[in-house]
This record gives sequence, C-alpha cells and structure tokens, in this order.
Amino acid sequence: MKTYKIAVIPGDGIGPEVINEGIKVLNKISELDTNFKFDFTYFPWGCEFYTKFGKMMDDDGIDQLKEFDAIYLGAVGFPGVPDHISLWELLLIIRKSFDQYVNLRPVKLLRGAHSNLADVKIDDIDMLFIRENTEGEYSGAGDWLFKGQDNEVVLQNSVFSRKGTERIIRYAFEVAKKEGKTLTSISKANALNYSMVFWDEVFEEVSMDYPDVKTASYLVDAAAMLMITDPKRFEVVVTSNLFGDILTDVGAAIAGGIGLAAGANINPERKYPSMFEPVHGSAPDIAGKGLSNPLAAIWSASQMLDFFGYEEYGKVIVSGIEELLIKKEVLTPDMGGSAITSEVGDKMVEVVTSRIQKKFLYSE
Ligand code: NAD
Ligand code: IPM
Ligand code: MN
Repeated sequence: MKTYKIAVIPGDGIGPEVINEGIKVLNKISELDTNFKFDFTYFPWGCEFYTKFGKMMDDDGIDQLKEFDAIYLGAVGFPGVPDHISLWELLLIIRKSFDQYVNLRPVKLLRGAHSNLADVKIDDIDMLFIRENTEGEYSGAGDWLFKGQDNEVVLQNSVFSRKGTERIIRYAFEVAKKEGKTLTSISKANALNYSMVFWDEVFEEVSMDYPDVKTASYLVDAAAMLMITDPKRFEVVVTSNLFGDILTDVGAAIAGGIGLAAGANINPERKYPSMFEPVHGSAPDIAGKGLSNPLAAIWSASQMLDFFGYEEYGKVIVSGIEELLIKKEVLTPDMGGSAITSEVGDKMVEVVTSRIQKKFLYSE
C-alpha cells in the first residue's frame, strides 16, 4: 500500500476550520480505496505561534517540510501580526523555497454555483489560470531609503528571469496543447517597459514551438474588464504573480465566490513538495463562527489527488461539490445556505462515499 506523507499547516483564522473538512474527505477516500493512505503530520505554525515564539515557523521549518509528498495549507495572516511578516515568513517562503512556480487556479463555474454575472451560461466560465508563483512582482527585493525624511523613497523591485518567465509560459503552452485550448497571456507592456516587454517577447518566442496552439494576448486592465463582460473568451491563461493574484479573485467573484476558489502550488519537477491551498485568506471577520465555506479547501484537496495521479477521485470530489451546489440543502451562508462548516464537510464525505461505492458497484 502506498502511503502519502502530507504536511498539514492549518494556519490562521478559518484556515483550520476548512482544512479539517478537506482532511475528512481525503481520509474517507483512502478508507474506501485500500491501495493508498494518507499520513498527516500537523504543524502548528502561524500567527499564534508567532505571538508565542516570535517567528512564524520553526527555524528549520523548510527542512522539516522537505520530506513530505505534499503540503495542505489553510490560510496565513491575522490581525496582530503585520501581514508582510506573517506571509513572507510562512506562505511565500514555502512557495519560493520549494520552487512551486506554477500556481494552478481553476476559474470554473460549477453546475449549481451562482455567478455574480447576469445571463451567464455554465460553459461561459471555464478557465484555468496559470500564475507565475515564485518571482515577478513578488521578488521580495526592494529598499526603503531616507525613512521619515522629506526625500523618503521606497523601491519594490520586480524580477523576471529568463528561466522563470520561460518555464511558466512553456508549462502553460503544454497544458493548452494537451487540452486543445486557446492560451491567453496577460501582461502590461504599455506601462511596464522592462518586465512586461520581456514577458511578451518570451511569450512570442515560446509560441514558435507550439504552432498548433491558438494564442491571445491582453493588457491586464482590459483583461480584468473582459473577464466580466465576456468571460468565455478565456480558456488557459498565463500571467505574472501579481496579476494572477488579482485576477483570480476577480475569477472567484464570477465563478461562484471566494468560498469556492481552489488552488495548487506546483513544483512540476517534483523535486520538492507541492502545496495545496484555497485561494481565500484567513477571513478574520467570520473566523470561529462556523460560517466558513470549506468547499474551496476541499476542491484544493481534489487537486492534490489529481497531482498524485488519482484523477478519478479528483473528479468525484468536484462532481460531489456540484451535487451539493445543485441540491442547495447543505451549504454555508456565503452560498445562500444555513449550514455550518462541519455540516458541509460531513455532507461531502457522504456524497463522495456514495459516488465511489456506486462506481465500484458498476465496475464489478
Ligand atoms: P479573505 O479571503 O480572508 O477574506 C475576504 C472576504 O471573503 C471576507 O469577507 C471573508 O469573510 C470572505 N471569505 C473568505 N474565505 C471564505 C470562505 N471560505 N467562506 C466564506 N467566506 C469567505 O481576504 P482578506 O480579508 O483580504 O485577508 C485576510 C487575511 O488573510 C490577511 O491577513 C491576508 O493577508 C490573508 N490572506 C492569506 C491567504 C493565504 O494564506 N493563502 C490568501 C489571501 C489572504
Ligand atoms: C493568494 C494570497 C497571497 C498572494 C498573499 C496572502 C501573499 O493573496 O494566495 O492569493 O498574494 O499570493
Ligand atoms: Mn490572493
């Protein structure tokens, strides 16, 4: 039997609430399929840990995580610890240290989900965002000069390396090719006269190796508008770290809400663990009240199963989420329901169980 070692970092606010439900679902699937199991190790890192120990994780935290097959993370950040410290010392350092340069974020309107866009059909919103995840605007490099003085200047540098830019664009071309979809690049070369001119050039260059992949290219401001006015023109999308961050929240808004937005931080070479986490944050406004929607975290867990090669189970989870959305009986308030977080998780376990058992029955 194959055992997958998963590092669990529930994190802050609603992080532990939603991760708990994802783990229920993963455990149930491994219980039903005796070929593999999950071995979860919990790490109590986050803002509470910072308050006690003055750091967001153990000094050798990255080394501890290195030996795992994957990381399952809730959310990081809570009032009381400056966000730039909590995020840089935990979430962002993991993405960078483990070279998780591909951030896969589906922006897909599931059956039964409610889009904030009027008159939109289910197939109109079916995108896969491929966000560069280790450099660009998130290089972390900068300077703060003449603090407090009249000539104070703050620099925040973007870094677009050839290696980093080419590999994310190539990855996106491979996905678009495999799926027979259009690849759209989103940049901003009219104003960002170094980084985005370079991005566009690399996109153009790499496209020569993929003559069969249809491409499109938009400026990020226009793209933000078009995602709302004409979402169906986007299929596979590749973009920079910051643009991808912002546009995937726009994506969440049009594809059922932030409580449904899933994400995977992938190291495609599998040299280091990949990390699975919902797009949303720690939602301090609703933490501890049972109001958080665990479906994004559960969908991210399905991306973990896909990554391990169990796409069948990944699909079972996503179609299970659709079943809940269609029936509308057990949903959290953000989805128009009145269930609490754990009830949604329990229902997902029930639905996933019945789908897997039916499948086994039919295939016997
Ligand atoms: P947020 O995503 O935490 O919350 C934005 C809004 O969406 C809030 O009204 C919240 O209640 C709601 N929301 C989010 N997730 C929900 C869920 N699962 N169910 C129902 N409602 C949900 O964004 P924010 O308020 O800008 O950030 C809060 C903190 O989280 C900050 O410290 C921020 O830096 C951090 N953050 C962390 C991550 C991460 O760890 N991946 C991502 C985004 C933000
Ligand atoms: C996300 C988050 C993070 C990001 C923050 C918390 C640093 O917003 O995962 O979308 O910007 O990548
Ligand atoms: Mn974000």
